[in-house]
Amino acid sequence: MTKKHTIILQPSGRRGQVDEGTSVRTAARELGVDIESICAENATCGKCMVLVEEGRFEKYHIDSKREHLSPVGAAERDYLQRRPKLLKEKGWEIGQVRLSCQCKILGDVLINVPEESRGNKQIVRKSARERHIEIKPAIRKYLVSMTPPNLERPIADWERLAKGLETSMRLVRGAEAELPRWHELTIDYQCLRTLSKTLRDSNWNVTVSVWQDKEVIEVQAGYVEDSYGAAVDIGSTTVALYLCNLRTGELLAAESEMNPQIVYGEDVMSRIQYTIEHPDGLEKLHKAIIGTLNKLLKQAAHTAKIKTSEILEMVLVGNSTMHHIVLNLHPKDLGLAPFVPAIHESVDIKARELGLHINASGNIHVLPTIASFVGADTSAVILAEEPHKQDENWLLIDVGTNAELVLGNRKRLVCTSTPTGPALEGAHVEYGMRAAPGAIERVHIDEKTLEPKYKVIGVEGWNTDHAEFKGQVKGICGSAIIDAVAELFRVGIVDSRGRFKKGLKSKRIREGENGWEYVIAWAEETSIGRDIPMTQQDVRQIQLAKAALYVAARTLLKRSNLQTPDKIILAGGFGSFIDKEKAMLIGLIPDCELNKVYAIGNAAGDGARIALLNVEKRNEIDSVTRKVERFELPTDPDFQNNFMLATSFPHMNEPFEHIAHLIPHRTADPMAKNFMK
Ligand code: FES
Repeated sequence: MTKKHTIILQPSGRRGQVDEGTSVRTAARELGVDIESICAENATCGKCMVLVEEGRFEKYHIDSKREHLSPVGAAERDYLQRRPKLLKEKGWEIGQVRLSCQCKILGDVLINVPEESRGNKQIVRKSARERHIEIKPAIRKYLVSMTPPNLERPIADWERLAKGLETSMRLVRGAEAELPRWHELTIDYQCLRTLSKTLRDSNWNVTVSVWQDKEVIEVQAGYVEDSYGAAVDIGSTTVALYLCNLRTGELLAAESEMNPQIVYGEDVMSRIQYTIEHPDGLEKLHKAIIGTLNKLLKQAAHTAKIKTSEILEMVLVGNSTMHHIVLNLHPKDLGLAPFVPAIHESVDIKARELGLHINASGNIHVLPTIASFVGADTSAVILAEEPHKQDENWLLIDVGTNAELVLGNRKRLVCTSTPTGPALEGAHVEYGMRAAPGAIERVHIDEKTLEPKYKVIGVEGWNTDHAEFKGQVKGICGSAIIDAVAELFRVGIVDSRGRFKKGLKSKRIREGENGWEYVIAWAEETSIGRDIPMTQQDVRQIQLAKAALYVAARTLLKRSNLQTPDKIILAGGFGSFIDKEKAMLIGLIPDCELNKVYAIGNAAGDGARIALLNVEKRNEIDSVTRKVERFELPTDPDFQNNFMLATSFPHMNEPFEHIAHLIPHRTADPMAKNFMK
């Protein structure tokens, strides 16, 4: 019998057992991951390059090693040796990078398929919204004209500039502005190094960029009007960067990319674990994210037709783990009781200290964190949505592999977080995939025939609108997973406890290898040649994720003496694509009027842009976050019982009046009394 080995493909998270001797590219295709090729696997196009990750991956119970792939052959070596520039640029070495069409699997491996090799590029759903932002950047430019030094007045260049700058600042900002005296101003060392030459080359007429009214960070010859900044949201899955003109606020470029840390763990806990288990773990994760940020900076600068050195400031937000890793702070204490971050307050640091390629004197501002798992991204969401200025009680939910929740109004804000796992994003679901062409994104099931119809990313309309629908589907993404589970429950294929009902008349309901399942797409409709079902196991994964989220929301409501929020705001790319009614039908969000549920897209990115363009907002969010009350869910004595009640659809004992008409078959669950106190 042929030996089998485990292959894990990141960032898709696809995994499976394949026969020894299968090429990586073939194995990937079998698992529904397309890797590019334009040379018919002749080792001449290099489109199929992949990276072998080495080490113990506890989560998957595998040791991944380069030797678990066949040795680099002559054709492959020949191709790679002809690409020294590419390998140097990427920091890859032969053996680590392989042509997936050439290498055969001889043992367990974890393979990272880089963006450029992916056949079905990820749709990164993080775009910037139009919003009004008052422009008050941390960096202001002043034109300064000086008389050159002479033997009578041999004042040093910096002091001469500082005196001229003080005059300019007062003229521009008016007498009422609180401004430093010239001797209180400072100049960044990197800027000082070129100062004398710039002053002389410009004939003593320069434009000076001042950060926070105190530090000179750039001196340019003549009159220069514009300067630039970047706002970045580092998500566990996706990194989004927005390049803005700091004078006008105009959004010049929006770039995004998968978070490369995903190869070390899909969620924050597994990445923390990786840094604990590997002495060089933090370094690897830190370098990976810095590399991606530099790549995005370069792309954005290219789009905006500027140089990266013209970017004078960056604002970063991200969950607490991403925050720690990008700052090169060890995240291990975030994952251990009593769960404390290294710092709550916002951080200002020179970009060069982190290896970020913007102006050599440029600054990085990182928004404050609130709790161990309520990070700077939640601070940014608060800044963008302003619940602290409302009379109504708003519930903000940012859903990802971890969900952060904030509830309250101008009087009081409470927050918590809960791990929802990657199931809601399409991982850990048998045919789950991220939102990319070929992913089913919507599902509807007819209650009479129990036949489904579905929509696929990249294909117009429903599958049933097409006379012939063949070979289009690759998997099912987060929004359709919610749809599918809600529909299975609505039409009565699964009961409120998530169990498949036996004896229903449909060829789509069958007993598969891993228990009962419902086939959404038949093999001939897919490009992977296999039926795509929702399995009992998949339904269980969603039950766990939605129960975690629901209990978190309910706990905050209880702590605030509220039965229901006045408004539910779903932040994050995921929230934008889920069907609110279906989300409520499975009890992912609390019962409330559907027209009070809003999806707002990437609010964390919006918050980062606001902080970039308006320095006063940084102080505002610093003071708001200091007052937010935090709750750690596991310390709630009712947590276990509440969790069990919430695993039912939509809930074991709560009425969910606003969607009750969709499930007339629902009956009271006799188990409920066992968990109610
Ligand atoms: S497919 Fe062209 S080099 Fe592998």
